[in-house]
Amino acid sequence: MKILITAGPTREYLDPIRFLSNRSSGKMGFAIAKAAAEKGHSVTLISGPVTLDTPPNVKRIDIDSAREMLAAVQQELPEQEVLIMTAAVSDFRPRIMTHHKLKKATMPAVIEFRKNPDILKTVQPEKGNRIFVGFAAETDNIFLEATRKLNEKGLDMIVANDITQSDAGFGMDTNRVTLIYPDKEPEHLPLMSKVDLGVKLIEIIEAMREEPQPIG
Ligand code: PMT
Repeated sequence: MKILITAGPTREYLDPIRFLSNRSSGKMGFAIAKAAAEKGHSVTLISGPVTLDTPPNVKRIDIDSAREMLAAVQQELPEQEVLIMTAAVSDFRPRIMTHHKLKKATMPAVIEFRKNPDILKTVQPEKGNRIFVGFAAETDNIFLEATRKLNEKGLDMIVANDITQSDAGFGMDTNRVTLIYPDKEPEHLPLMSKVDLGVKLIEIIEAMREEPQPIG
């Protein structure tokens, strides 16, 4: 399969030095990319700023902002059969980005934000027979929130992380997730390494690909 994976955070700059971002390390997305490449799939990895090495046989595209990630996804998607969005995309960006360092004296006391585009929703019209997988990092009503995102974004599966647990979610080497589908019962997976979860998710996606596809 040709698999497109996004990983890591985005950065939304206020000036050349300061930005809005989040705690994603990229480990989950890189683990999936490694597992997919080791199984012989053709893997493209679009990554926000992280400190991880690119797994062997993976094409990597580095981006900073959510809008750059969207442009890279739009550029690459036509060639792909699967899109896996593990990236923690910033939903907002500062309304104004200055190209010079803001000085204390002129720094605004209140920063205005604009909404970023939703990447999965934007590329939804291009889905066709492609498999789209999303991730959700939640603290409350995990199942309800993840199911809402599954439906709103038209996904084939969403991987819900409970980030209130100290051994799962952002930055950890392990994760504990629930797989939620539009048409079957959720699957609760035990605590496992992100590497093993990457292998498991690729096996699940391979099985989905073998199922008969609707025409569209
Ligand atoms: O990188 P690690 O440290 O290993 O951590 C992994 C992780 C916790 C970041 C990852 O497993 C995870 O859960 N990623 C999704 C984080 C999240 O909360 O996403 P969300 O609920 O904001 O978005 C839901 C889905 O829509 C995600 O697939 C996201 O990539 C996508 N999205 C979000 C915002 C946006 N503007 N466009 C999008 O496409």
